[in-house]
Amino acid sequence: MTFWKKFRKESVRKRRGSISSDMSEPKSEKRTDFSFTGLDEDLLDLSEVMIEQAIGYVGVPLGLAGPFIIDGREIMIPMATEEPSVVAAASFAGRLLSKHGGISTQSKEPVMAAQVFLEGNLDFSSAGKILDSRDEIRGHLQKTLESMERRGGGWRDIDARWIAPSKTLAVNIQIDVRDSMGANLLNSVAEKARPVLERITGGRVLMAILSNRSWHRTASARLGISADELRGVGFNGGETARRIVRAARVAREDFDRAVTHNKGIMNGISALALATGNDSRAIEAAAHAYAARYGPYHGLSQYWIEGNTLHGTLELPLPFAVTGGAVGFHPASRWCLEQLGNPDAPGLSRIAAALGLAQNLAALRALVCEGIPKGHMNFHARRLAYNAGARGERIPAFAAVMCSENIRNRETASRRFARWIEKTDAEFK
Ligand code: MEV
Repeated sequence: MTFWKKFRKESVRKRRGSISSDMSEPKSEKRTDFSFTGLDEDLLDLSEVMIEQAIGYVGVPLGLAGPFIIDGREIMIPMATEEPSVVAAASFAGRLLSKHGGISTQSKEPVMAAQVFLEGNLDFSSAGKILDSRDEIRGHLQKTLESMERRGGGWRDIDARWIAPSKTLAVNIQIDVRDSMGANLLNSVAEKARPVLERITGGRVLMAILSNRSWHRTASARLGISADELRGVGFNGGETARRIVRAARVAREDFDRAVTHNKGIMNGISALALATGNDSRAIEAAAHAYAARYGPYHGLSQYWIEGNTLHGTLELPLPFAVTGGAVGFHPASRWCLEQLGNPDAPGLSRIAAALGLAQNLAALRALVCEGIPKGHMNFHARRLAYNAGARGERIPAFAAVMCSENIRNRETASRRFARWIEKTDAEFK
């Protein structure tokens, strides 16, 4: 029996409380409830059909952010994230923007590229041979693309580029993947194209795989809000708006700041990706590549003021899927898509763009006014309360005590909890 199978079997037997294990596992008094450790049997089955050597799962908190008004429709957006403040910040911006018509969005067709790289006796003229043989290559791929063509997607274009330094020919076959992320289809297309591309060019295939650049599959969001709504601690609305514009400009001009600025945008987008079972690494990679498309890496959003209104925009590739892989298969993903009204893939990418922009506005407003750490203090207090032993309604109650007494470390919190619980025990019974 493999280690994984044995580990799982032992874990499940322990969960049922039948026998003790002879496997060496960390000894901890708190380690009794398997719902915390990712060893629930049903979810283990689910994990096992999703990845290899599954021994458990990680329960990431799932929140519903909002309400947002996106293209005139009110929605709550599911977000899976381990980071405090992210859902609260998105909700804050969502509510604020809802008073001003919300966020409007647009998206392009879900076109992705399959890449085939060829080496051998080739030169820059090999690229021309590919373009001249466009119809033949398309014909060769017809069967592979048949079902996608029936769904309105399929072949869109082909281009080829000579990479002089490595003397390699890069062929990009562009495919509309409709509601899927496209990885499986694109990889099949790239594989299938191997022999025909070798025959046309006389070269040999080095590798064949999709490109996660997702260049064509962009979505954008746009907001406009009266500056008066933005007033923060120490600043009136007009001054806050001016500072937001300046902060976003700094992110377009300073590499170090741009990375953090974009990380904040992705706080929202990746949380939606995780909640809906999407490939968050593919989405992140495409976003960061887009931020460097003109050369220097820069912040992805832009803000400006017209009259008394702050305007903001965000555009980036968002290769979100609503079917395939874990999407729509994992029960959490299905539930989250339902909350969003079961959008198609471009619709989900537009929601992601709106969420990213709202997340960014909330972060910038906080940064240029009161700053970020203050917002985090409440979460820290709640975690201290949890660690000290508070559960249920006691968590916010004891967290409030710690905030008011400015307690920030675990030992002090635990000692204070012991005294507090004696006094308040009756209240919570
Ligand atoms: C924290 O997770 C995200 C921020 O750093 C984003 C930003 O600085 O724009 C607050």
